[in-house]
Amino acid sequence: MSKKSRKLFSTRSQKYKKSVEECTNIIATSPFWVHFSETIKLELNGSNPSSILCYGLGNFFESIQSKYQFGLLLTIKHEFKVKNCYVYDPQFTDAERSHLTEIGCDLLCENEEGKRSLLPGTFVYMPHCPKQLLNNLLWANWNKEILTSCIIVCNSIDLTVTSTFDRILNKYAYYVKKISPYVIEKKCCDNFIYDDVFNDMALHIFPYDKLKELENSFWERSKEPFYDDDELITKFKCMSFQS
Ligand SMILES: C[S@@+](CC[C@H](N)C(=O)[O-])C[C@H]1O[C@@H](n2cnc3c(N)ncnc32)[C@H](O)[C@@H]1O
Repeated sequence: MSKKSRKLFSTRSQKYKKSVEECTNIIATSPFWVHFSETIKLELNGSNPSSILCYGLGNFFESIQSKYQFGLLLTIKHEFKVKNCYVYDPQFTDAERSHLTEIGCDLLCENEEGKRSLLPGTFVYMPHCPKQLLNNLLWANWNKEILTSCIIVCNSIDLTVTSTFDRILNKYAYYVKKISPYVIEKKCCDNFIYDDVFNDMALHIFPYDKLKELENSFWERSKEPFYDDDELITKFKCMSFQS
């Protein structure tokens, strides 16, 4: 890279970082956060999450929605003093990856396709992610003890299930559909200044008193899910980007 392009790159990065910082400040002082942080606190009941896992943030240096969603992530990390914040999106740019590392997030290097085993007490944040990603996460953690200890903020499960044909759910979101009657969800209130940043999202908890009633057979999993569409970016697709 020439000296001139390096300078341009650095100026642009500074500008992006500043705008992420501004969005974080806007979130942290917004009525949206006052309400949402109360909801989280109520569910955490005095404890703090053991870690945060965030998939699918998108390009937060460029996209307005991703910038504010990133602002919310940093605000949650800060408010609940969460040390480990694991983040992954196959579409992050090199500049976004370096920024995440710089500010103390733990960048995941591998595309897990959402099939990560959660540690108890994880706060999962998947803003506007494909339903297949949530389905994979549920498949990988299809266990009442784990699910009960975690919180998942993602597209409303209720809305996904009620607005999607059964045929599609069975193919792409079987576990989402199966767990849906036993989930309690609190909608992210729609009082944010932009209506396309947190729309259709909700905080989900998996109450033990509901899950414990389920037969052991409910918790049997079938084989690892794979899909025949492009919504979820697979490991295989990532390898083809790189080659
Ligand atoms: C609809 S976009 C949402 C982006 C952003 N959060 C927003 O609301 O504008 C879905 C995001 O999921 C990400 N995604 C797809 N496959 C993924 C995977 N295997 N792991 C993590 N993120 C993934 C995409 O790269 C994309 O950024």
